[in-house]
Amino acid sequence: MLSRYQLLQALFFQAVLILPIVSVAQAASMSDGSRLYAPCIVCHQPKAWGSPDGLIPNLAGQQKRYLAKQLAAFRSGARIDSAMQVVTAHSTLNDEKNIVVLADYLSDLDANPRPVNGSGEHLRVGQELYTRICAACHGADGRGEQDNHAPRIAGQHYPYLRRQIEEAADLHKDLAPPEMTSALRGMRNQEKDRLADYISRLAKSEPLLDSDRRDGSGAH
Ligand code: HEC
Ligand code: HEC
Repeated sequence: MLSRYQLLQALFFQAVLILPIVSVAQAASMSDGSRLYAPCIVCHQPKAWGSPDGLIPNLAGQQKRYLAKQLAAFRSGARIDSAMQVVTAHSTLNDEKNIVVLADYLSDLDANPRPVNGSGEHLRVGQELYTRICAACHGADGRGEQDNHAPRIAGQHYPYLRRQIEEAADLHKDLAPPEMTSALRGMRNQEKDRLADYISRLAKSEPLLDSDRRDGSGAH
């Protein structure tokens, strides 16, 4: 039986095969970025907001440099994910120029305004951890820092974030700074839940939490 990833990978190859036809037919109306992004839609969705279950990440509004670095990392095997390994093995992503065009295109899109969040409980714990440990690199607003290569994490889907946080030490291998991986390794599961939930809500425009509120309020 096909796993979900095998199914998605099969769809991806179909998209790649259709691509030359689409690009000839729509060459005038499609930018290079959207043409290169077309085979990614099957998983990351048309606006690059990630999958509805929140397991495939939002890419829209992500830092350019970070996107380019991750695509290269999947390709070289420095970052491991079976779906992305197959995708980046494709010859279009052998070309540095195409990676830059894709990264530019994605970073200019508006991020997902309604990411999947966690339970909303004890967000204060998440806020405290975030402010104390993560904000220095990812920014108080979670939008990342182009210069120190820290990605945008604000408003990323909770299920994806939670998995990245759990596996930070393995998944990104030596890509992530040791300050980050050691802090995450030392955390309890509940703390990781709160932290990922808080980060998934960081991009919302309404005031998130204020110090007078009890835990769990202000979660909407
Ligand atoms: C078969 C499904 C699938 C397709 C097709 C796919 N992706 Fe992905 N992508 C994923 C999954 C799953 C992840 C999460 C990997 C992980 O957990 O480390 C991911 C992660 C990423 C990341 C890392 C994001 C981050 O925040 O670190 C980037 C960048 C990315 N994909 C870009 C692309 C681009 C560009 C394409 C098209 C050329 C594409 N993907 C096509 C499934 C897919
Ligand atoms: C010393 C700077 C630094 C600190 C502190 C830090 N990070 Fe990071 N973080 C980074 C960098 C740089 C990357 C990109 C690593 C890479 O290129 O793969 C990253 C990547 C991530 C990712 C992966 C994003 C994605 O889209 O896959 C997550 C999630 C994350 N950090 C969460 C956190 C959390 C939560 C904390 C606080 C406990 C934290 N970070 C603290 C620098 C930092």
